[in-house]
Amino acid sequence: MEAVGQRILSVKDAVLTRRSIRKFKPQPIPQEVLEEILSLALKAPSSNNLQPWRVVVVQNPELKERLREAANNQAQVSSAPAVLVVYSDMKDTLEHVEEIFHPGFSEEQKQLRAANLRKAWESKSDEERENWGKAQGFILLAFLMLIARSYGYDTVPMGGFNASKVKEILNLPPHVAITALLPIGIADEAGFEHHRHNLQRVVRWQ
Ligand SMILES: Cc1cc2nc3c(=O)[nH]c(=O)nc-3n(C[C@H](O)[C@H](O)[C@H](O)COP(=O)(O)O)c2cc1C
Repeated sequence: MEAVGQRILSVKDAVLTRRSIRKFKPQPIPQEVLEEILSLALKAPSSNNLQPWRVVVVQNPELKERLREAANNQAQVSSAPAVLVVYSDMKDTLEHVEEIFHPGFSEEQKQLRAANLRKAWESKSDEERENWGKAQGFILLAFLMLIARSYGYDTVPMGGFNASKVKEILNLPPHVAITALLPIGIADEAGFEHHRHNLQRVVRWQ
């Protein structure tokens, strides 16, 4: 699929050209492109394949405006034609845990694994569930940013928001954990050049 009239970028080119964009052109993202970006990102791995992530795609201008207010008034939220709200729902995940097993498993194996997973999670606090779910959500977030870029779209990952307010605006239940907001669209600014640590600063070889 050619998204904005250009070839789909390689992973390397997507990595090299992705930067946070906070001013977007108003044109909406075609539904089929959004679905393609989301479908590909859903191939991201998660621990035990639990896939606790969920996404709300917000395009309604009034909702975006309210989200902007809940995100310290950061203008990129209402500037983008769409905002992907990445969150995790451990209650839904554990209630429907049978869904995540490979079809190759027998019914007996599935039931055993489901029981083990539910038992392992039983004793975990709400905070542990939220932190774990949020962390898995960051994997999806990274996939979303790079896949979007490979289709010619830009994003900005955002952790600066009031989670309770975002849940209220989007009618999300209190137990979910919001990983990030991800405004997405076509860039209307260049963004900043990468300024990163080099290999020697970060990597140790043993
Ligand atoms: C988890 C996370 C949360 C962030 N939250 C915000 C935010 O609330 N507002 C914002 O403008 N940028 C936010 N950023 C963007 C960072 O400032 C940006 O990624 C970083 O400066 C590197 O720049 P680059 O993305 O252009 O390479 C966030 C990035 C990450 C990964």
